[in-house]
Amino acid sequence: MIVDLRSDVLTKPTEGMLDAMMSGTFGDDVFSEDEGTLKLQEKVARMCGKESALFTVSGTMANQLAVASQTVPHDEVILDLKSHIFQFEQGAPAVISGVQMRPLDYENALPKLQEVEGAIRFPDIHHPVSRMLCLEISHNYLGGFIPDFDELKAVCDKARGLGLKIHIDGARIWNAIVAVNRGVEEYASLCDSMMFCFSKGLGAPIGSILVGSKDTITRAHYLRKGLGGGWRQPGMLAAAADYALDNNIERLAEDHGRAKTIADAVEKNPKLRLTRRLDTNMIFFTVKSGDLQGCSEYLENKGILHDWKHFNMFRLVTYLNIDDAMVDYTVKAILDY
Ligand SMILES: Cc1ncc(COP(=O)(O)O)c(C=O)c1O
Repeated sequence: MIVDLRSDVLTKPTEGMLDAMMSGTFGDDVFSEDEGTLKLQEKVARMCGKESALFTVSGTMANQLAVASQTVPHDEVILDLKSHIFQFEQGAPAVISGVQMRPLDYENALPKLQEVEGAIRFPDIHHPVSRMLCLEISHNYLGGFIPDFDELKAVCDKARGLGLKIHIDGARIWNAIVAVNRGVEEYASLCDSMMFCFSKGLGAPIGSILVGSKDTITRAHYLRKGLGGGWRQPGMLAAAADYALDNNIERLAEDHGRAKTIADAVEKNPKLRLTRRLDTNMIFFTVKSGDLQGCSEYLENKGILHDWKHFNMFRLVTYLNIDDAMVDYTVKAILDY
């Protein structure tokens, strides 16, 4: 059996989603004429309580447009050392936006209030301009971790008070929402812009979306074209995204349950150690002996595909194509290790 637990980006569209895609629209979105895409953007903006939204090819593009549309060259962006934007987006804010990144080592996905305050530059000819704070929910590197909502709000209030723009990389915000039972608009209300992905746990093949003010999204829309991100006929993808919003959110709880089952097996094996708190759909663990390579080969031989090199620890991710039989098989392999 092959159990591909490398990432929730590997979701395959269900039959219902494929049917929805087949009845997608075929207008040209560069001409702003694709009804399905326009409707999706309006729907998501409304859901999030924001003025506008922009459908993008990837989460990376949505994050980069969030930075580019709300900064100017010489600005400084405060973000987590372990964030996707800092770790896994090629340093693109320097290239695309001409900004400097100021990584702080957030604890539990949030900076301390004093750290935010301490990172602010006073106006001086030597300094970049402090412009933006980025947050990530759920936090990938921390194992799908969800920061405490009240603490999150305190950080956002502080940052706003200091005049910073706030962007939430909510690639997996729906996993957090399902786990803590809060509304998406509660998270969106804390920030100036937020993005989330349809192409991860929500099960669509491609697509992410950025929400924000009308001005921000107008600017992002302009910049997206120059990055080659102007869609011609994305209606089938918008239909998949729309289907995902209507059908695939609540079911994320099943992925979380399956992740818990696998995490319990890791905990039962004395040779292994969980390295992250399990909040959503990601299990992070290490091998007490330090033989990560050996454990990786063991899992690979069993057909259990995984990631470990990006994090120097194992990451297993559950998603809608991972069923109970696959989980049972994985549990057995983990207990037998
Ligand atoms: C937290 C986070 N943000 C952004 C992204 C980027 O999304 P994409 O792969 O669609 O560019 C990812 C992808 O894994 C992610 O985990």
